[in-house]
Amino acid sequence: MGTMLELTGVQKRFGSTDVLRGVDLTLQAGESVAIVGPSGSGKSTLLNMIGALDVPTAGEVRLEGLDLAGLGEEELAAVRSERIGFVFQLHHLLPQCTALENVLVPTLVAKDATGAEERARTLLERVGLGARLDHRPAQLSGGECQRVAVVRALINRPKLLLADEPTGSLDSASAHALSELLVELNREEGVALVVVTHSGELASAMGRRIEIRDGQLASDR
Ligand SMILES: Nc1ncnc2c1ncn2[C@@H]1O[C@H](COP(=O)(O)OP(=O)(O)O)[C@@H](O)[C@H]1O
Ligand SMILES: [Mg+2]
Repeated sequence: MGTMLELTGVQKRFGSTDVLRGVDLTLQAGESVAIVGPSGSGKSTLLNMIGALDVPTAGEVRLEGLDLAGLGEEELAAVRSERIGFVFQLHHLLPQCTALENVLVPTLVAKDATGAEERARTLLERVGLGARLDHRPAQLSGGECQRVAVVRALINRPKLLLADEPTGSLDSASAHALSELLVELNREEGVALVVVTHSGELASAMGRRIEIRDGQLASDR
């Protein structure tokens, strides 16, 4: 398998506020981890560093051994599109596009999109949306939209899926279904998961649970 992700001494400062104060984290390929902590503790900031959406003030982020600090904008964009999938609290689907079209958006910039539509259909069926391929977001429930967002995040076969409070805006039944889905996709697709969550249920479904406190990580199990 090998090391998926390695953070060493990652610091992030906004103005005079030190949000991350030396974060060390190693994640193996296919592993799953929950990041928990109070609002404002730096969870999203940490996820942004991991996902190459922002750069640390100090320290190193390595993705499959690749030092992100050594990459230019174009290479970073390629890393984001080919190796990482993102799911946010709000699904951010395009309202004018169908479920199937939304899922295919990331393949528009992929180097090799062969078989993308078939994979999109298969995955949408896999998450119980086989009869909703042509529905637009307004015709889908919140839980259904979030499942479309998960499929969209997986369409380019990333090895790492980052989710920032993915069940945060769902009712409890939909949140439960999405938690189960993430666990199953982790197992079936071998995709490593880093999930920021306030949900005890989702956190306990991950292989590890790490708390962020005073800008550092503390493993609770
Ligand atoms: N782009 C930014 N500019 C300035 N401050 C920021 C920025 N992003 C986050 N922060 C601050 O960093 C702290 C951590 O934010 P965040 O990572 O969003 O926390 P969490 O996701 O745990 O709720 C907060 O105090 C927030 O105001
Ligand atoms: Mg956040």
